[in-house]
Amino acid sequence: MATQEGYLDRILTIELGRCTEAAAVAASTMIGRGDKESADQAAVTALRDALNVLSIDGTVVIGEGERDEAPMLYIGEKVGQGGPKVDIALDPLEGTTLTAKAMSNALAVVAMAQGGTLLHSPDVYMQKIAVGPGYPEGIVDIDASTEDNILVLAKAKNVAPSDITLCVLDRDRHQPIIDAARKVDARVFLIPDGDVAGVFHTTEPSTGIDMYVGTGGAPEGVLAAAALRCVGGQMQGRLLFRNDDERGRAEKAGITDLDRKYDLLDLASGDVMFAATGVTNGSMLKGVQWESGRVRTQTVVMRSKTGTVRYIDAISNIPTK
Ligand code: FBP
Repeated sequence: MATQEGYLDRILTIELGRCTEAAAVAASTMIGRGDKESADQAAVTALRDALNVLSIDGTVVIGEGERDEAPMLYIGEKVGQGGPKVDIALDPLEGTTLTAKAMSNALAVVAMAQGGTLLHSPDVYMQKIAVGPGYPEGIVDIDASTEDNILVLAKAKNVAPSDITLCVLDRDRHQPIIDAARKVDARVFLIPDGDVAGVFHTTEPSTGIDMYVGTGGAPEGVLAAAALRCVGGQMQGRLLFRNDDERGRAEKAGITDLDRKYDLLDLASGDVMFAATGVTNGSMLKGVQWESGRVRTQTVVMRSKTGTVRYIDAISNIPTK
């Protein structure tokens, strides 16, 4: 028989989807307007309002920044009306530039987990590697060379290295990864932004992406780990610091071993719920569509306890607020 706790979890998972819907709809008003800050602000305000009506005692652990730099959804902000103690990781608009330029794959993303089980990561860079489900544990390693990771993955899939595709953020810093992939004839799928979707793509065979590798935001790393916890897959991450200020932020967040290699369960250890709504069209989700007086959204909600992945197509009246 379903327990009361299980029932609440199910309701909260759907409610989380309503929150990302609200953020995505708000952000979508700014698609293609060349103003990424306003797009982000619209999503932040809508997400905060939506989270604040949930029956949770939530603490933002991955948010818009430290309290002194972000007035809303800052790290440590309490959200909700009271209820189970949960950690919240959020990115109201993952892909601010994608939205400003009307490019694909911008998302509104939230993860929720039992209090104290999501890595309280500062907003620094994280070196990441991820593969989808179905491989032996530890098949790829952040400390192995890109060539070796491609070769072991090809062997496990029983294909040639030329049939392996890597997803990589299109940044100059990733040229060595791209060169290494070319050396063994692997394909590289370059994305302009949005590595939560990049990591998630490894779990979906229709994307053709086998491995995500490279350096992106650490908050996005925790969100991607939360998504992988629900659908399966492996991920490792290591925080990267550019200066003492960033190291200080990590220490303030309670991180003592600054060189630590994090596995998936170190990034998101508890029961996790994850929700994402498309802002612009993407390979994972359709973007927000405005139709005469109504708005259409596509959202994915999932939770690690059951592994259920639920896609929700919603048609709602245009919010009046
Ligand atoms: P924003 O939504 O904040 O613009 O972040 C987009 C993003 O591409 C993330 O997905 C990624 O982790 C990070 O930026 C990479 O950072 P950088 O642009 O500094 O390489």
